Amino acid sequence: VTIHRGDYRPPEWQVPDIALDFALGIDETRVSARLSVVRHADAPAPLLLRGDGITPAEVRVDGSVWNDWRMEGGDLIVDLGERTAAMVEVDTVINPATNTQLMGLYASNAMLCTQCEAEGFRRITFHPDRPDVLSRYRVRMEGDKAAFPILLSNGNCVEQGAGEGGRHWALWEDPWPKPSYLFALVAGDLVVNRDSFTTMSGRKVELGIWVRAGDEDRTGHAMQALKDSMAWDERVYGREYDLDLFNIVAVSDFNMGAMENKGLNVFNTRYILADPDTATDMDYDGVEGVVAHEYFHNWSGNRVTCRDWFQLSLKEGFTVYRDQSFSADMGSPPVKRIEDVRLLRAAQFPEDAGPLAHPIRPDSFQEISNFYTATIYNKGAEIIRMMATMVGPERFRKGTDLYFDRHDGEAATCEDFVKAIEDGAGIDLTQFRLWYSQAGTPRITARIATDERNGERTLHLTQVVPATPGQPEKAPMLIPLRIKAYDLDGGHGVEEEQLVLLDRTEMAVPLGHYRSPPMLSLNRGFSAPVIVDFAREEGELEWLAANDDDPFARYEALQQLMLDTLVTAVSGKASDAGAVVDAIRQTLTGSAADPAFVAEAVLLPSEAFIGDQMVIVDPDAIRRERLALQAAIGTALESEWRAILGQLAPAATLLTPLAKGRRRLRGVALAYLAATGMGDASELAFGIFSGADGMTERQAALATLAHGDSKERAQALDIFYRRYRDNPLVLDKWFQVQAWSLRSDTVAAVAALAEHPDFTLTNPNRVRALYGALSANQAAFHQADGAGYRLIADLVLALDPKNPQTAARMIPPLGRWKRFGDARAAMMKAELERILAQPGLSRDVTEQASKSLLG
Ligand code: ARG
Ligand code: ZN
Repeated sequence: VTIHRGDYRPPEWQVPDIALDFALGIDETRVSARLSVVRHADAPAPLLLRGDGITPAEVRVDGSVWNDWRMEGGDLIVDLGERTAAMVEVDTVINPATNTQLMGLYASNAMLCTQCEAEGFRRITFHPDRPDVLSRYRVRMEGDKAAFPILLSNGNCVEQGAGEGGRHWALWEDPWPKPSYLFALVAGDLVVNRDSFTTMSGRKVELGIWVRAGDEDRTGHAMQALKDSMAWDERVYGREYDLDLFNIVAVSDFNMGAMENKGLNVFNTRYILADPDTATDMDYDGVEGVVAHEYFHNWSGNRVTCRDWFQLSLKEGFTVYRDQSFSADMGSPPVKRIEDVRLLRAAQFPEDAGPLAHPIRPDSFQEISNFYTATIYNKGAEIIRMMATMVGPERFRKGTDLYFDRHDGEAATCEDFVKAIEDGAGIDLTQFRLWYSQAGTPRITARIATDERNGERTLHLTQVVPATPGQPEKAPMLIPLRIKAYDLDGGHGVEEEQLVLLDRTEMAVPLGHYRSPPMLSLNRGFSAPVIVDFAREEGELEWLAANDDDPFARYEALQQLMLDTLVTAVSGKASDAGAVVDAIRQTLTGSAADPAFVAEAVLLPSEAFIGDQMVIVDPDAIRRERLALQAAIGTALESEWRAILGQLAPAATLLTPLAKGRRRLRGVALAYLAATGMGDASELAFGIFSGADGMTERQAALATLAHGDSKERAQALDIFYRRYRDNPLVLDKWFQVQAWSLRSDTVAAVAALAEHPDFTLTNPNRVRALYGALSANQAAFHQADGAGYRLIADLVLALDPKNPQTAARMIPPLGRWKRFGDARAAMMKAELERILAQPGLSRDVTEQASKSLLG
């Protein structure tokens, strides 16, 4: 069944209050729900309560047993006759232990926890379960005190006590009305890291991070990130926290990163636990970013929520933009921007260019879980960023203030957000709204024309928004481009950056008088999520890579230079590494440069991104040419790389941006040296691996060794495994580095690792570590005999009956078949067909596989 955005109707019944009573048990939990319902429809209408895999033990209305109900699919329809209000009670029994979908109430490591977004609440009890039905929750939970010493839910704990036979109970109340997707409950044997934060109005908030015993020493970074986020949201958006308690619980088995349940965030352990011995600098940044993201949802998501799931980007795009801005402020803004753009290009551009392309506000879906995508999240964030760029920070803040004022306590739409920015910031966003409805990455071409008589230069821009499934024709978008034209012989005077608003198919922008052709810096800071084609003269990219005053533009110029060289080589033409080597040398020796920026800038584009530049991707040629260029750079700059590695590594406990940057650059230097195949490279890597005092250097060295076939490789993998076999998050890394390997036998290695006693399909992190890494390994996944495709399809079929959400996330790489030539396309389509032929396939996998097959 396809659900359409245009079919939205306001709910006929609201549920202003709800009381839940849980009798907890790992393999049997009894749930009694009391819903006070109020009719909003003018005429009598049956009460539709959604259910998924549950049956009502008993239904009561206003205190009496009620028989006027029926099931429709999984849903419960209660006929309330002429009533305009009623108290509806339903009892259900669920089994958390067998809930392998990890949606609803489930067991993870002997603890009970919930995940309700988007439609998991209906797996706990019957409810309208739509985000525009907001209720005040009162939750009583009772269970065995030994098994579940800690009982948590949203809001405040108002009462607790002991019960019969070693049982105990707690009563929680959340004063803020909320949609059912924000409900949460946790019960288990947990320890807490406590702290507090005093808000700007002087409210003291108790903070708690709850983990399994033994993990508490690894929660310090998450706690600091939480306090920093709370202060940042006050300072930058004027948003204050609104409860006396803020709890976070970390669980090992979790489908996504984390969840913003009101006052009780639930996290994947990988975004909470960090210490220098087990987490890399990147892991640390991930913790900080996700803690901030979930905290920021308290306003962008919880206080103002979504009317329906088509509006998902209302909260996700805005919240990603907010967490990106926070992380930029906590570290280096240019480096953060580079990382965000790299992710956008790696995950979202391919989505926009493939069969699953959808606008940030989709028009239809079959399964909403399939729409927690890079488009909704990351492109959504870019759309918010463009609005902020066009109006500047002060006016943008006026817009967001108005948005929060107007819609506090409401379930809002993307249109409400845009309107608030329009009214608050004072800008007309009529045409800009197309970013919400049109899918596809716009392509801009740029060209500079010269009037030979007077030296006047004009920038000619064109835009094309490519056709996407269901959207053959596109209208021109409003695209804000930050540009600067550098004058190399001083005839023009001071150059100023300007913001060009490209709002039509073709546009001419007068640049003024330049004696010699200006150096054009275009889409500075990546001001718009577009692809730019600009035929450069020789030497231009080198000049910009060295001289542009926008660090992102410097990065971009060097990347483009590398990309041009690689694409030329892959297409079989003679290419010369000389310009790339010189530009990298320049970047390395630019004295004031931040090492994190240098590390990002000198890194070669990924195999996948090189492939994205080609009509038909040749994964083997890309691997070969990328390795060859890497080796050439490694050799030509050997002494530079050795000098970087020769310096003392910063102590792993030192987490300043500078220390992190230096470690990152050391990792890049090691990879370049190893690519040369120099005799001592494995020894060097093994030395770093063994001597490392933290995970950043240790993992970088291990990943480098994993590409080769030295005896040190086997040794290091073995040492690593034995040291960390009892730490699931680190063991994930052990699986991951092997699946990332550039060796030619990686597909076979992944197949063997899937049989390893530590591999399990029940933990999504482990599945992603092994199979997710394989699909990200372009030449391995696209191995010519189709073994990579087969392995992924086998996984999807094995995982779907247990966890359809995570299974469906593995499908998109198979949907890119159009781009990989006939032979590969036939094999990829055959695997999609094999998946679709499986009886009893989930809605999640059916939607992704059938859309992917259409191409
Ligand atoms: N709202 C969560 C976040 O962005 C994501 C939860 C999605 N969960 C899911 N099962 N689809 O942080
Ligand atoms: Zn989110």
